Amino acid sequence: MAQQSDLFKNLVAHCKEYGFIFQSSEVYDGLSAVYDYGPYGVELKNNIKDYWWRSMVQLHDNIVGIDAAIFMHPKTWKASGHVDAFNDPLIDNKDSKKRYRADVLIEEQMEKIEAKIEKEVEKARKRFGDSFDEAMFRSTNPRVMEYSAQFEAIRQRLAAAMTKGDLAELRQIIEDLEIADPESGSRNWTEVRQFNLMFSTQLGNIAGEEGKLYLRPETAQGIFVNFLNVQKTTRQKIPFGIAQIGKAFRNEIVARQFIFRMREFEQMEMQFFIRPGEQKKWYEYWKEARMKWHLALGTSSSKLRFHDHDNLAHYADAAVDIQFEFPFGFKELEGIHSRTDFDLGNHQELSGKKIQYFDPELQENYVPFVVETSIGVDRMFLAMMSNALVEEDVPGGEGARAVLKLHPALAPVKCAILPLKRNEERIVNMAQGIFNKLKFSFNVQYDDTGSIGKLYRRQDAIGTPFCVTVDFESLDDNTVTLRERDSLQQERVHIDQLEGIIRERVDMRQLFV
Ligand code: GAP
Repeated sequence: MAQQSDLFKNLVAHCKEYGFIFQSSEVYDGLSAVYDYGPYGVELKNNIKDYWWRSMVQLHDNIVGIDAAIFMHPKTWKASGHVDAFNDPLIDNKDSKKRYRADVLIEEQMEKIEAKIEKEVEKARKRFGDSFDEAMFRSTNPRVMEYSAQFEAIRQRLAAAMTKGDLAELRQIIEDLEIADPESGSRNWTEVRQFNLMFSTQLGNIAGEEGKLYLRPETAQGIFVNFLNVQKTTRQKIPFGIAQIGKAFRNEIVARQFIFRMREFEQMEMQFFIRPGEQKKWYEYWKEARMKWHLALGTSSSKLRFHDHDNLAHYADAAVDIQFEFPFGFKELEGIHSRTDFDLGNHQELSGKKIQYFDPELQENYVPFVVETSIGVDRMFLAMMSNALVEEDVPGGEGARAVLKLHPALAPVKCAILPLKRNEERIVNMAQGIFNKLKFSFNVQYDDTGSIGKLYRRQDAIGTPFCVTVDFESLDDNTVTLRERDSLQQERVHIDQLEGIIRERVDMRQLFV
């Protein structure tokens, strides 16, 4: 556990030191749960978005994209259920005046029980060595069985209370488990009450409730209200999808874990419109397709898993998360939701306008059902960074290095051009010539600000998959050294071949096969 939190601290420090992520308004001591992306961060983020957009929109002739506004008519959020149901259960500690999510306090208590179980298992593993039968131990050891039973009882109570929105029961669970404020240790809690997560603001020309606007808490509604516009203008036939990437805002009570839970973040969402009754088939299809998208990046399958929702959101009849093993445990990275006709049906009712599709094969009108895939760009960024950051020894006694083993297609900089001697004019000129040629094809960097060893370390730290070194031999035969980031292998390459070799190895197309 201690090791994992060190890993996370290193990751956060690395993101700042190398220009990936900064705290927002840092000169004013920052704004909680809001972050800015630095020069390398924005490149990585754009590459993630590009991978998603190309996989969804470019590769599917039945998925089209839009870019809807953040502000929407206030009735949108009434119809979508967000005004009435987009709440988190909030509890205050009367002594510390700190505010918590009641369900998160209970989940943290469950994590402590889980940690006790894992501790028992690890102790036994050490004691029994090779003959250790973990499954048998978990199902027969009295202490583990007792902890597991406690865990399951709390899980069931929490799930039931959340499904029913039973705030008194949540308060009772906190009391029964004797949960104290993690900061002050006080158990002096208020009642639990609902807290709406939407940020609101006011239109300039209308006073009072009528002019109240919300910052969208999900991008999906911009897709739903445009369903007919898009379907008619693109002449798409069901089944078809609409995709969008954009900012979303949530007034999160618990804002921790760096960019995992932010108040301003970005989503990549796709609504797939289908015939009523076909939701099971498409739900399974998109579950599989989205898992494949993650695995194509080389992420180990042991770090990704499906997790069915215990508590369904107000709009869903089935929902599953793709969880990733972040440094602080397995957590939601993406959601796949069967949203039925909830959204389109409610917009139809509240707007009084018909939002239906005429199915030429069935010869009938209906409100389409929807299966949605929804992933946070920032969470995907955090997953990729935590998956990639490695501290390792460099063979040959050259010390340690921090290296970001990002997939080359996602790497912020594809190639660095490094002159071996910065005061040898012919070498510098040749290196700058290569840079000026390659910059039209990829994001490349020229750097002559240190020794070659230092320059390599810097490029490793930002995840650059290739470094090109120009030396005296280059002047004679027009060859350069091409160094690969992960294997550290070096090959001698003619400068005319450089572009083709790098292009092939950083091409996003390799992710699509
Ligand atoms: N339209 C469905 C929807 O918004 P969600 O599960 O609430 O569903 C989808 O959010 C994804 O958005 C999550 O899986 C996560 O990746 C991302 N996300 C949600 N809240 C976030 C937050 N506060 N900070 C960063 N990412 C968030």
